Amino acid sequence: MSVSEIFESMEYGPAPESAADALAWIVDQGGRFGHFIDGAFTAPGAGFDSTNPATGEVLASLTQATQGDVDSAVKAARKAQPKWEKLGGHGRARHIYALARLLQKHARLFAVLEVLDNGKPIREARDIDVPLAQRHFYYHAGMAQLMESELPDAQALGVCGQIIPWNFPLLMLAWKIAPALAMGNTVVLKPAEYTSLTALLFADICRQAGLPKGVVNIVTGDGAVGEMIVTHEDIDKIAFTGSTAVGRRIREATAGSGKALTLELGGKSPYIVFDDADLDSAIEGLVDAIWFNQGQVCCAGSRLLVHEPVADRFYAKLRTRMEKLRIGDPLDKSVDVGALVDPVQYKRVSEMVEANTAGERFVTPGAMPENGCFYPPTLITGLNPADTLMQEEIFGPVLVSTTFRTPSEAVQLANNTRYGLAATVWTENVNLALDIAPQLETGIVWVNGTNMMDAAAGFGGKRESGFGREGGWEGLAGYTKPKVSGKPLKEIEPFTGEGAPEDGIDRTAKLYIGGKQARPDGGYSAPVWGKSGGLLGHVSLASRKDVRNAVEAAHAAKGWSKTTGHLRAQILYYIAENLSARGDEFAARLDAMQGTKTGRKEVDAAIDRLFTYAAWADKYDGQVHGVPIRGVALAMKEPVGVIGALCPAEAPLLGLVACMAPAIAMGNRVILSASEPFPLAATDFVQVLETSDVPAGVVNILTGPQADLAEPMARHMDIDAVWCFGAAELSGVVEKGAASNIKRTWVNHGMARDWFGAEGAGREFLQAATEVKNIWVPYGE
Ligand code: NAI
Repeated sequence: MSVSEIFESMEYGPAPESAADALAWIVDQGGRFGHFIDGAFTAPGAGFDSTNPATGEVLASLTQATQGDVDSAVKAARKAQPKWEKLGGHGRARHIYALARLLQKHARLFAVLEVLDNGKPIREARDIDVPLAQRHFYYHAGMAQLMESELPDAQALGVCGQIIPWNFPLLMLAWKIAPALAMGNTVVLKPAEYTSLTALLFADICRQAGLPKGVVNIVTGDGAVGEMIVTHEDIDKIAFTGSTAVGRRIREATAGSGKALTLELGGKSPYIVFDDADLDSAIEGLVDAIWFNQGQVCCAGSRLLVHEPVADRFYAKLRTRMEKLRIGDPLDKSVDVGALVDPVQYKRVSEMVEANTAGERFVTPGAMPENGCFYPPTLITGLNPADTLMQEEIFGPVLVSTTFRTPSEAVQLANNTRYGLAATVWTENVNLALDIAPQLETGIVWVNGTNMMDAAAGFGGKRESGFGREGGWEGLAGYTKPKVSGKPLKEIEPFTGEGAPEDGIDRTAKLYIGGKQARPDGGYSAPVWGKSGGLLGHVSLASRKDVRNAVEAAHAAKGWSKTTGHLRAQILYYIAENLSARGDEFAARLDAMQGTKTGRKEVDAAIDRLFTYAAWADKYDGQVHGVPIRGVALAMKEPVGVIGALCPAEAPLLGLVACMAPAIAMGNRVILSASEPFPLAATDFVQVLETSDVPAGVVNILTGPQADLAEPMARHMDIDAVWCFGAAELSGVVEKGAASNIKRTWVNHGMARDWFGAEGAGREFLQAATEVKNIWVPYGE
């Protein structure tokens, strides 16, 4: 096309970026890559080709890691870890800063290599992937520097296994490696099999930066290598980003192993356009929401919900905009849409779209490149909420859509998904936007913008989009553990005895469900004996059905999550006051059950604990993150929802209160499984709750064997998180069952906790009782 012809048509001319330097780097490395283990590249072995999806050309040959390779990488990481941690925050900050500087220096090489390997447009790699990756290293150099002063109770986890996907190969590496290193961990990372080259270039950078050997190890290969990492015995934490199906398998595979886990999984994020929105901006937003990276984005705004009065106008504008999208050579700086990552993904997207017969399809017209994995931008309107394409992640440049009539219908449609990663709200009415934002069941909400990310704002979701956050202060929790005593839990056997109660009256304590004392569904009860063999009473044995009833009651009490912190504080103080009034009675009961003389101390500690969380109820504030985009991210602390807790056997009253109080202070509803050997403190506590204005269903208490309750709680689709401070083997049961709806878990892995001391209270509990939602709003000029 000549310049005069370009002026004639006002079409963009080609503006190709040169691939020469990136290809030369591959050639320099011999075109065949081994792994990066203990500071050096291993000799290339048998493996597979990495291809350019835009052309089908082979770029390089990669090695499929063997178990031996993974073992060597883990060994190197293990050996390097103590020294890396002891280097201290400042020492680590200097190294991480050096990595950031080198990433910046080689930004162009990284961007072009990413494009060749992944097929994404150079504009995106150059302006988003690579600068954001640098930003993560800079930001976390700062976190390393501040760790000792700001997180004095945190320590490194050890060796982290990190498995990343192919949609943002370098950026996902940065999200994983930067915080891990900052907090004193070492890593073994596996890039996705389609896109390993920038990870290997990063390994080269680690070498150039003089990063100590073994701190970063990179092994290549497919899902089988991922599994070797997941099941490796000497790894302390698994961080995974990828599909929900694989995330679920990893949850099951790591259950009970003691490994920490964070999962960043799929999404089907709603993009909500109200009738008062600036429609042209909303259209541009959509281009970034669903055609950014060919729609291969976990938080892509892939489900368009349009307010009915403007729907026709909006669709017309959208089709016009789609006609202008430029699809083609990803190295061309004026191309909007590049190639899908691999023929496998192309086939997956095509098959999903072809299988759909509902709605109306519009496809960007015009010629498509003949070779390569190019899929045209597609819009499907008029779908029903239950249609497969409205529910399943397509992970391609395909936007599906329906309309809504009222804001509450918009919220209902938005939340009608098993995912909960992100949502976009487009309106000129700030009241409406901020009214809708808290109602969306997602980890991120963007107002009048979309797909915005930054190292300072935590990224991550809820429901089947996974758990844990990456970035921000909250992201550090995924790479640290509290400094605790670390003593193994002692199993407590209940006392045995025989005979009748001293006063001759046979009392059976009931369950407490929905504000009422309820008989157990199974109708069974069991005696509780004191140390000297006397009968103290009977408790009801709860079963699966009672868990279900309690969940129903807890859901009915959802209004609790909307109450103010002030109100919740008042109720916690009131519970404390009523417990205090009956303190002697509780102390005597605790001593009788446990055969100790510590009852009074325990009652006092429980009252103190209630005061602690009454105090926190209106003070565990969110944050406002300054982000380098026009706006701020409001990091709001929200309740998790319904929490099931297996309370500790020891400290039967204090342990129950220590679980209940932070959970309800933060606005959750709880189902508590009481101490198994000493349940009567919990059943007596029901009377305290009944006189303390706790709304029905906010606190539910079950008694009986925790082994019978752990699994139903963990598997229940309407419980959002399960905590386990019970017997060692229950941790695995809970983690495995939690794979059902990928719920959050917090388990003891058989380690004891000093319920009377600092370990039994505080921020760790508050963190477990809250989700952080980052709401990005325009702010400033
Ligand atoms: P995937 O989840 O299989 O791959 C992600 C990573 O996990 C890769 O490094 C892969 O090698 C590894 N992996 C695969 N199986 C594993 C296992 N059993 N244990 C440990 N690691 C394992 O994703 P895939 O198959 O490439 O894409 C399938 C679909 O997943 C996509 O169409 C999309 O819907 C979704 N996806 C979502 C992503 C996100 O960021 N949320 C990223 C990639 C895919």
